[in-house]
Amino acid sequence: MPLQRSKELTVALEASQRAAEVVMRYYKQDITVEQKADASPVTIADKEAEKLIQKIIQAYFPEYGFLGEESGGTHADKEKLWVIDPIDGTKNFIRHIPIFGILIGLMQYGKCTLGVSNVPGMNELMYGQKGLGAFLNGQSAHVSNIASLEKGSVSCGGLKHFRTSGRFAGLEKLITRSARMRVFGDAYAYHLVASGRLEAVVETKIKIWDIAAPVAIIEAAGGKCTDIDGNPITTDTTTIIASNGKVHDEIVELFKK
Ligand code: IPD
Ligand code: CA
Ligand code: CA
Repeated sequence: MPLQRSKELTVALEASQRAAEVVMRYYKQDITVEQKADASPVTIADKEAEKLIQKIIQAYFPEYGFLGEESGGTHADKEKLWVIDPIDGTKNFIRHIPIFGILIGLMQYGKCTLGVSNVPGMNELMYGQKGLGAFLNGQSAHVSNIASLEKGSVSCGGLKHFRTSGRFAGLEKLITRSARMRVFGDAYAYHLVASGRLEAVVETKIKIWDIAAPVAIIEAAGGKCTDIDGNPITTDTTTIIASNGKVHDEIVELFKK
């Protein structure tokens, strides 16, 4: 019998919906952009959305750890850890490009087991839970069956990041080997893999909050996620291959130095 929607998933969906309302209210305005210590941008929308998500989640699960991009971690060493990116794709959000997402992930004993990824500008809500499966706007979602890069479409993260992290040679091989390469970007690119519209996404220079929710969704949709060297995803992971599973090893091979 299929697993039921967990209490965690119900709460994460509510938090995601409420945060999306806040984010979309700001999206229509021109808002002040601040710079963080690492020179990346942040807005009041990022901060308010994360606070709201934290308030809702901690009201139901006060004993779980919480790790948010904007507020940092409380009890981030706990066995059950919420991992939040209130706006993934802030640079798009600021410039009124609708490719950004609200990401709520749950890690249990170090594994990404549940994810909600809301991309309101594209009208796409995805969620996935280990054992339950993955869903796109309420419909069951699955990765594609395309088994080789020769026939596959792939997306990647920031091209500059590949260069600065010394992974450009691997990326060039991936461009040559795959049938089609487009940079769709941020949370939305992972939706495309989880719902069978792309075969893989590869990124460098990421943090766990960028990927915890997408990883849970893609795995629940039948796909596979590792770092770029083929190692399991952990809270310290900084690169990712998120695929339909069938083209995964081929991509790992291309990035071998
Ligand atoms: C960033 C975006 C971007 C990626 C960066 C991330 P943010 O997240 O996902 O595409 O290249 O590495 O930090 O700051 O928009 O949440
Ligand atoms: Ca992010
Ligand atoms: Ca963010």
